[in-house]
Amino acid sequence: GRPGPLLVRGTLVDAPHDPFTTGAPLRVEDDGGLLVVDGRIADRGAIADVRRRARDAGTAATELDLRGGLVVPGFVDTHVHLPQVRVIGGLGLSLLDWLTDWALPEEARLAEPSYAAGVATDFVHGLVEAGTTTALVFGSHFAPAVDLLLQEAERVGLRTTAGLVVADRVLRPELLTTPERAHAESVDLSSRWHDRGLARYAVTPRFSLSSSPELLDACADVLRDVPGTLMTSHVNENPREIEQVAAAFPQARDYVDTYDRAGLLGPGTVLAHDVHPTDAGLAAMAAAGSAVAHCPTSNAALGSGLFPLRPHVEHGVRVALGSDVGGGTGFSLLKEALQAQFTQSLLGPDGLPLEPAHLLWLATRAGALALGLGDETGDLSVGRSFDAVHLRPRAGTTTATVVEHAPDAVAAWRALVALGTTSDVAGVWVRGRRLDGDDDVRHDHLG
Ligand code: GUN
Ligand code: ZN
Repeated sequence: GRPGPLLVRGTLVDAPHDPFTTGAPLRVEDDGGLLVVDGRIADRGAIADVRRRARDAGTAATELDLRGGLVVPGFVDTHVHLPQVRVIGGLGLSLLDWLTDWALPEEARLAEPSYAAGVATDFVHGLVEAGTTTALVFGSHFAPAVDLLLQEAERVGLRTTAGLVVADRVLRPELLTTPERAHAESVDLSSRWHDRGLARYAVTPRFSLSSSPELLDACADVLRDVPGTLMTSHVNENPREIEQVAAAFPQARDYVDTYDRAGLLGPGTVLAHDVHPTDAGLAAMAAAGSAVAHCPTSNAALGSGLFPLRPHVEHGVRVALGSDVGGGTGFSLLKEALQAQFTQSLLGPDGLPLEPAHLLWLATRAGALALGLGDETGDLSVGRSFDAVHLRPRAGTTTATVVEHAPDAVAAWRALVALGTTSDVAGVWVRGRRLDGDDDVRHDHLG
């Protein structure tokens, strides 16, 4: 059944305004309240005020006491691979060897639906455990595996955009399709899943290197035929990859242009990595309103390079975080935020120093906007869905010590970025529904 009204009490921290363009600090409500009606935030403010207004309106709400730690918007992972959950940790290889020797043999196993079902369960569990409430998922090369993922996400209640991954060259043969089949299977999946509940569809050519121009054209046809679908792929990740793409697409100005000339660059496009951008590519992405999924642990693990955030921001290209599991080292966007901060530090004067507001923005609101879900999720404003995470370190840990001694909520968030892991995720909600089971949360009746 649908849960009744909730009155959430806790230290609320979110990043509703872009700190890169506005300089806005984090928004903090120290003893805050959120009234959640039908899964949506109907009121927010100081707990005493929200409680009184609810009472005056005759709203009987169950009080959810999340004091201790922080309540932040659910994390938005803008780039994560379903078939790689069981092969996280293949360190020390560079992209093309990692794909051939490590990731793609596992991806081939998803041809077997019973194997794919287990992977889908592990994958959705991994996202929820990390406090991710919204994800743009690179699905599988096998349509039944994509169905299984979207079924599992629907069962659990995770906000998921996913698509059939398509390739017609370079990869091992069992992962290849044809433009005709790619089009037919993508239209079939999207007609059944796009905009159904919390699910949406994303057209997903793996990368230009494994795509013929005809395959990219077929992807553009799906994008046009099924309104509102997103497009996601990879770009400018690794120097060897970039060289090979240039050789395969001699007409293209650069890597971004391989997508642009196919009609695949638009406001619903999310391209992962862009570690080695060109000025023309940045200008084209900015003009199209496309976004970049910055995947900092993956960029470090595969030796792809240090992501130049500053030129992205200067060109007006939208950037959000992605875990890139399994190139990345886990589902935690806390870890990605930390690695993003490290990366900009390592770039020295070329880096863009990241403050606590930038880090929460990149992990939440920026992702919601990149995915076209700005009205739904990404912050704790009135009108949004209650998609949230309770970060509360376990007693007795160093994280708990540092968070308890933090002078304010901003310092507590900083500490959670530095020290936090999935163990510090104490509760996860999407549309007001708890996704991670219920442990020790106290429910008091009000009204
Ligand atoms: N480029 C094409 N496929 C992949 C992938 O699975 N992971 C990463 N990091 N880059 C890719
Ligand atoms: Zn990827």
